[in-house]
Amino acid sequence: MNILLLGSGGREHAIAHKIAQSSQCSQLFIAPGNAGTEALGENVKLDIADFEAIGQFVVSHRVDMLVVGPEAPLVAGIADYFAEQPLLRNVMVIGPSKQGAMLEGSKDYAKAFMQRHNIPTARYRTFTEATLEEGERFLETLQAPYVLKADGLAAGKGVLIDPDLDTAKAHLREMLSGHKFGDASASVVVEEYLSGIEMSVFVLTDGSHYLLLPSAKDYKRIGEGDTGLNTGGMGSVSPVPFADKAFMKKVEDRIVKPTVRGLRDEKIPYCGFIFIGLMCCGIGTPDAEPYVIEYNVRMGDPETESVFPRIKNDVVELFENAAHGNLDGCKLEVDPRTAACVMMVAGGYPESYRKGDLIELGADDETLIFHCGTKRNDLGKLVTNGGRVLCATALANSLPEALLKSYNRTMAVEWKDKYYRRDIGQDLLKLMQEG
Ligand code: AMP
Ligand code: GLY
Repeated sequence: MNILLLGSGGREHAIAHKIAQSSQCSQLFIAPGNAGTEALGENVKLDIADFEAIGQFVVSHRVDMLVVGPEAPLVAGIADYFAEQPLLRNVMVIGPSKQGAMLEGSKDYAKAFMQRHNIPTARYRTFTEATLEEGERFLETLQAPYVLKADGLAAGKGVLIDPDLDTAKAHLREMLSGHKFGDASASVVVEEYLSGIEMSVFVLTDGSHYLLLPSAKDYKRIGEGDTGLNTGGMGSVSPVPFADKAFMKKVEDRIVKPTVRGLRDEKIPYCGFIFIGLMCCGIGTPDAEPYVIEYNVRMGDPETESVFPRIKNDVVELFENAAHGNLDGCKLEVDPRTAACVMMVAGGYPESYRKGDLIELGADDETLIFHCGTKRNDLGKLVTNGGRVLCATALANSLPEALLKSYNRTMAVEWKDKYYRRDIGQDLLKLMQEG
C-alpha cells in the first residue's frame, strides 16, 4: 500500500524507518520530511495544516494510509476531514478525531476526562478571567510550588511552576487577563504539585483495544543535571528500569485501561497513539504510584527514537489492524534490549541558533542516526535546519552499553557549535545502583 506520513522531525524519521521495513509498504511519502526521511521514501512539499492540499495529494497518489506525526493537524481535525470527504473516507488514518485530540489540545478537557474515569492525576481547578479571584483563593489552598497550565496548545511552553504564592498569583493574572500565552491561556488549569520521577508511556489503540508500547524516559532540560530551559527533548531511554512489572501493572490497570475504556464509552473516535506523561511517586517503595501529568495524542519526540527501534512487529500491519478495529488480534513483539538516544542540537538552542551549518556524519556503525532538523543545501550537502538536528540511538544488552555506543556515535558527528547533554541516563543508572 501507499503511505503518507506527516511531519519533519526525528520522530517521523524513526517512524518512517519502521514503515520502510514493512513488506506491506509499496510507496512511502513523507510531508515535508527532512534529509533523513528522503533516504526512506519521497519527501513531499505539503503544508501539514492544508488539509485540502493533503487530500488532493492522497487521491492523486492513491495513498491508502495517512500516519500523522505531530499533534497540530490532529487538534485541527485532519481525521474528521478525511472521514467527511467521499474520496478520502476509505483512507486509513492513524491519528485520533478532533474530539480525541482534545486530550492534548485542552488541558481542562483532559483533566475532566480523567476525573470522569477516576484516573489518578493531580487535584485541580480551571479558571477564566471571570473567576480570577476564585483562582487566587484556590492557590491559597495549595502548597508551594504552584503549577499553572495554559488550557490550550502553547508549543510546550504553557506550563509554569512557581516557587511562591505571590508569583503564582501574578502569573495567573497575566495568563488570564494579559493572555500571556495568547488565546491558549484564556483558561488556566491550576493544580497540585506532584513530586516524583517522570516517564512516558505509549499506547496504540483502535478505540476499543490497545497495545502497550515500550515505555521511555526523556530529558527535557537543556543543561546537565536537568537544569536550564525546557527543550523539545535532549535524549531518551527505553525501557525505564524502575518501571518494573508491578509498577507497569498499576499503570495499565489504573490509567491505560480506564483511558481506552473512557474513549470507547464516550464514543470518541480514536485510532492512533496515546502518549501518557506520568509522574511516578514513591519510586523505590512498594507504594509507588503513577499519576497522569498529561496526555498527548501522538508519539513523543525523542521517545519515539528509542521506542520504535525496539518494536519488532511490522508496524504497518499494526496500523492496519488499528484502523480496522482489530488490535485485539495483535501481539506486540519487543526487543528486550535497552535503547538509548542522545540528541545533538545547534549551539544556542532552545533560544536563538544558526541554521545552515555543514554536517559531517562520520563513519556508519550499527547505531541509528535519526535526522530531526536537517536538509540538503543547494549543493546537495547536509546542513543543520533546526534546533534539534540529529540523534543517535543505540541498542545494547544493558543501559551503560547502550549509552556508550550512542555517545561514541554522537562524538563522531561534527558541525560547528554542536551541543549535547553528556548525562543522558545517568539518573537511571544512579537509581539502579541505589535500588
Ligand atoms: P505538561 O505540559 O503538562 O507536560 O507539563 C510540563 C512539565 O511540567 C511536565 O513535564 C512536568 O515536568 C511539569 N509538571 C506538570 N504538571 C505537574 C505537576 N502537577 N506536578 C509537578 N510537575 C508538573
Ligand atoms: N518528549 C516530549 C514530547 O514529545 O512532548
